[in-house]
Amino acid sequence: MKINHLVILVFFCAEVLLFSQKPMINYDEGKVPQYVLPDPLKMENEALVKDEQMWMKKRRPELLKIFEKEVYGKAPSKKPIAYKVTSIDANALAGKAIRKEVTIWLKGNNKWQGMNMLIYLPKKGNKPYPTFLGLNFLGNHSVANDPWITIAQRWMRGNKIGGVISSRPTEASRGSDAERWQVDMILDRGYALATIYYGDIEPDFDGGWRYGLRAAMSRKGTNTVFKPDQWGAISAWAYGLSRAMDYLEQDPDIDAKKVAVIGHSRLGKTALWAGAQDERFAIVISNDSGEGGAALARRRFGETTEAINKSFPHWFCGNFKKYNGKEDLIPVDQHELLALIAPRPLYVASASEDLWADPKGEFLAAKAAEQVYKLFGKEGLGVDEMPPVNTPVGNFIGYHLRQGKHTVTAFDWEQYLNFADRHFKR
Ligand code: GCU
Repeated sequence: MKINHLVILVFFCAEVLLFSQKPMINYDEGKVPQYVLPDPLKMENEALVKDEQMWMKKRRPELLKIFEKEVYGKAPSKKPIAYKVTSIDANALAGKAIRKEVTIWLKGNNKWQGMNMLIYLPKKGNKPYPTFLGLNFLGNHSVANDPWITIAQRWMRGNKIGGVISSRPTEASRGSDAERWQVDMILDRGYALATIYYGDIEPDFDGGWRYGLRAAMSRKGTNTVFKPDQWGAISAWAYGLSRAMDYLEQDPDIDAKKVAVIGHSRLGKTALWAGAQDERFAIVISNDSGEGGAALARRRFGETTEAINKSFPHWFCGNFKKYNGKEDLIPVDQHELLALIAPRPLYVASASEDLWADPKGEFLAAKAAEQVYKLFGKEGLGVDEMPPVNTPVGNFIGYHLRQGKHTVTAFDWEQYLNFADRHFKR
């Protein structure tokens, strides 16, 4: 065999090997395998949950433990925060808003630099304001065209919108994600917005934990070897959201009983996990959260357990890797994550072109969570079939399938604001 034939053969074999290792992705509804969802109302000892007390006292804690151990990983217990208001402008956004910036950190822990929260308060209405709290992807300065927001300082991945140079955002990235935040609409409806760059908590790459909260909170610091049930990045970001809530409870401008936690995509997964654990979040909103968020894993439609664990090994705990290609063995599925939010109002939104996130799997998860809402006498979606595009449904569980791509739009925000108005009785 000539040498170049040998080279071609070696390349061919390598390709075949690589291809065979790539997780198969299914987008064909006809190829969704038969599956049986775990019953949220069945305890591990097979006893059936009969009423809301039994759910709250027995089953909810049991389910939370399973999600901790097998999916997201256990975070350390709550630590007290310290904070400092670093700026206030009573005339932000051409006089429409009050802008505040607050740095929040863990008392007595100087290994973590803390997180910077941007708050916009509306000037209409009276304080304390109902509030949307969400982590952002591209820095606080990306959420509005406001030249005075402090630019995020931590590591940031490059992105299509641009303005990130050598892993740090620049002036050019101001307002780059404004479309997804709709600050004017939120303020016009009388709500406050509180947001934090998720990279302040932990930078989002495999190994990023060394530069964030997880290393800072561990006795062995950057030498930590995580046990298979210890926290992954999603748990760390969710921990950050709960510490953000600790701050909001102390801020007299904020109505801490009316805080809706919201997130898109990986940060939607994070919002759900934060909302499942922390009952202070009065409403939980998942925008296109997909695999590991609102979508049922057992459907194996779009992103799979294997695909997510291979691309993002740092998001979930070590134990979750056991389920690559073995979704039926996961002791829970994502409808049970949604059920953990009951009886608080929950909103799940999908987008029609976002098949990777499995819109139908998100709807079916919301549907399967209804039985737990029913224990509390709360109506969930109120429909049996997935609604057509741009047709919001639901009472205590809201759902819509927006026409279009994987993103957050004004249409999405309109529904979240309507939902919040209804449940906050405004
Ligand atoms: C990837 C990932 C998804 C995630 C998304 C995002 O597509 O596979 O699970 O939701 O990124 O966060 O934008």
